Amino acid sequence: MTTAVKRIGVLTSGGDAPGMNAAVRAVVRTAAGMGIECVGIRRGYHGLISGDFVTLTGNDVSHILSEGGTMLYTARCEEFLTVEGRKKAVSMCKLLGIEAVVAIGGDGTFRGALELSRMGVPVVGIPATIDNDVGCSNYTIGFDTACNTAIECIDKLRDTMQSHERCSVVEVMGRHAGFLALYVGIAVGATAVLIPERELDFERDVVEPIRNARLKGNTHFMIVVAEGVGSAVDIGRQIHETIGLDPRVTVLGHIQRGGTPSARDRETASRMGYAAVKSLAEGNFNTVIGTHMGDLKALPIEEALQMTKHVQMDRYEVLEAMHVR
Ligand code: F6P
Repeated sequence: MTTAVKRIGVLTSGGDAPGMNAAVRAVVRTAAGMGIECVGIRRGYHGLISGDFVTLTGNDVSHILSEGGTMLYTARCEEFLTVEGRKKAVSMCKLLGIEAVVAIGGDGTFRGALELSRMGVPVVGIPATIDNDVGCSNYTIGFDTACNTAIECIDKLRDTMQSHERCSVVEVMGRHAGFLALYVGIAVGATAVLIPERELDFERDVVEPIRNARLKGNTHFMIVVAEGVGSAVDIGRQIHETIGLDPRVTVLGHIQRGGTPSARDRETASRMGYAAVKSLAEGNFNTVIGTHMGDLKALPIEEALQMTKHVQMDRYEVLEAMHVR
C-alpha cells in the first residue's frame, strides 16, 4: 500500500482521559495494517523534545483497550510553548525519522500541534478530554466515562444525604466549561446546577430551587457545581449563611479522570484513531478529527481551533421540568 508517510509518532498530552489508550491502540494497529511504523512518544511534548519514545507494534497495545489513563503518560509542557522548545522537537522528529505526529488531547494539545505543523511536521489531532470543551467536535473521548463516574459517586452521596435529610454540594471538573456539570446534573436529578457559562444569581440559582424543592416535600438537596464557577466550599458556606442549612461539600476531583473507558469512549476512540492514521496515509495533513452528528470529519487544524461550542442552555429547561411534582 502506498502511503504519504512511513513512520509516525503518537502522543497524549494535557489531562488524561479514559479512552486515550483505546485511541493509541487504534493508531498503532491501523498504522501497522497500512505498513506504517509507529513510535509512541512518552510524556506528551516533553517526550518529543527529549526523544523519550518507544517503538510500538500491534502486540504492544494488546490489553490497553479497557484500561484508563494513558500508557504513554501525559504532561503539560512549558518548554514546548517556546520557539526554542519547538525547534528541539522538530529536530528530534527529524532524528527519529518521524514524518508526522498524532496528538491526542484537548485544545491546548492542538495549539501545540498547530505550531509543530507550522514548523514543517505534519500533524493530526484526536480530541480527548473529560471536559468535552473542544470547539470542533461535538464529542471528546473520556467525557462519557467521566460522566458515568461522577454519576456513580453522586448516587452514593444521595443515599446518605437522603438518610440524614441534608444538602449536598458536589464540585465536578470541567475547567472553564460546564458541559460535564450540566450533563451530570440532569442525570442525577440535581436540585440545582451551577456552571460558568451562566452568571451566578445566588437567589435565583440556589436559594429558589432549594426552597421550591422543600415546599414540594423534599428534605435533601443536591447542588452540582462546575469547578469553573469557583469553590464548592464557598457555595456551601453561602448556603449555610443564607438559608441556614448545614451542607456537606464533596469535591470529586481527579477520580473523574480514572476508570475503565465506557463503550462509547472505546468505540469513539477506535474510530478516531483509525480516521487519524487514514488521514495521514492519504496525505491529508494538519487536521483534527471531530465528531459531527455522529460522523467523523477531518477539519483543518487552524479552522478547528477557531471553532467554538456552547453549552446548550435549554438543558436547564429539562432540569427544571424534572422538578415538577
Ligand atoms: O482538562 C481536564 C481536567 O481534568 C480539568 O477538568 C481540570 O480542571 C484539570 O484537567 C485538572 O488538571 P490537573 O490534572 O493538572 O490537576
